[in-house]
Amino acid sequence: MILTVSHQKGGVGKSTISWNLAVYLSKTKKVTVIDLDVQKTLTYLHNIRNKNDFNVITFSDDKTFIDYINNHENIKDEIIIIDSGGFDSSMNRLAIMGADKLVTPVSSKFIEILGLQTYENILFEIEKTNGTIIQTNVILNNINPIVKDFKDIKNFINQSKHFNIMKSVLRQRADISNSVANGLGITEIKSNEKAVKEFKDFVKELNI
Ligand SMILES: Nc1ncnc2c1ncn2[C@@H]1O[C@H](COP(=O)(O)OP(=O)(O)OP(=O)(O)O)[C@@H](O)[C@H]1O
Ligand SMILES: [Mg+2]
Repeated sequence: MILTVSHQKGGVGKSTISWNLAVYLSKTKKVTVIDLDVQKTLTYLHNIRNKNDFNVITFSDDKTFIDYINNHENIKDEIIIIDSGGFDSSMNRLAIMGADKLVTPVSSKFIEILGLQTYENILFEIEKTNGTIIQTNVILNNINPIVKDFKDIKNFINQSKHFNIMKSVLRQRADISNSVANGLGITEIKSNEKAVKEFKDFVKELNI
């Protein structure tokens, strides 16, 4: 199955979430990561990690990327995690089209809604050319632990037929940014239990 972590807005946590999903899911499943981020964040982290529990691959042109996706469409025993770049491009759109499941991280600040509207326009355009309905699981990420009320942003996000707001919330956790910097995932370090639980609850809700 292909899981694409996607948002054209930069810095929302796509690479962080893709990385942690790869680390955690590779304990029990075959995982390959496709790194579409121009900064090649996950390729870099994988080098630091220096383990072979999952692979990180990149593509330099649309044609080879499409061929790869087509060849892996119905493969059930492998999870392909695509870390999209934080911008609109043909390759990032292909990653949306090819996904069995989409995840879109956002913060809870109201200004995020503007970014989501831009993203939704991209989804509309893809639907028009493709003739398929696209829905993404929106995860509130990097949320200050003292913020408790998400009613407004959740209601707003849920008005769109493209967005399913997830019940899980990933808080801003120093253990998340620190573990990633060492080529590790939140589930592999001695960490704040709440941070690990939040992440595992998120994965459970994704129902991969
Ligand atoms: N839950 C979290 N807790 C703490 N820090 C986080 C969390 N999620 C993301 N971050 C931090 O936020 C910053 C941006 O995250 P990241 O690079 O994953 O975003 P991105 O969406 O991949 O960005 P880009 O669009 O530029 O590729 C990083 O410094 C990362 O460590
Ligand atoms: Mg990134």
